Amino acid sequence: MKFFIDTADLDEIRDLAQTGLVDGVTTNPSLVAKSGRDFFEILEEICGIVPGPVSAEVTATGLRSMVAEGRRLAKVAENITVKVPLTPDGLKACKTLTGEGIKVNVTLCFSAPQAILAAKAGATFVSPFIGRLDDVGASGMDLIADICQIFANYDSFRTEVLVASIRHPMHVVEAAKLGADVATIPPKVLRQMFKHPLTDKGLAAFLADWEKTGQSILKAEKAESSA
Ligand code: E4P
Repeated sequence: MKFFIDTADLDEIRDLAQTGLVDGVTTNPSLVAKSGRDFFEILEEICGIVPGPVSAEVTATGLRSMVAEGRRLAKVAENITVKVPLTPDGLKACKTLTGEGIKVNVTLCFSAPQAILAAKAGATFVSPFIGRLDDVGASGMDLIADICQIFANYDSFRTEVLVASIRHPMHVVEAAKLGADVATIPPKVLRQMFKHPLTDKGLAAFLADWEKTGQSILKAEKAESSA
């Protein structure tokens, strides 16, 4: 499973990229607004930090302007993936842009029929928003299960399932059990994934016991090399 991080916060991206666990980044207009920074400047910086796909969303809603914006965004860097909304014009723009060799992430997917349309339009990724479905009393994870099952039936569907609107670590686990290709994870949730109280407790006990031995692994190495 690939991990993207779902943020336009450059400090967070720099910090988490150092873990070596980040395969890409997703942004959206709300995340860019939250950063308070210039969109193109941010994109250039993110693409310089993370070599994998960096999603940048169009803000036009008509076909021609979406295609024009997508072409402009794709010029920022080779690893830009253009995000278009799951609307009839968004899917037409998807077809045009993918036909030009530009990677496209079809966003705001909330149903299996929509996901099928995105796959037929040749999307590189489709982004089902699971947290927002859970918020309205539906099951986001049932949608991921449906989409993964459907896509597995057709070799011609190359679209990757990019699980979006993730709210907690178990969303990542459940999506991984279902074989979803990508999870785009908010920085806070990625950090939560490292944590377990038994890891902290176990490490403290190991270190305390080691201290009692009076030994040092690196000192032993030095002693060996000078012998
Ligand atoms: C990612 O591509 C989406 O824009 C994002 O995951 C939406 O998450 P939210 O529902 O927390 O805003």
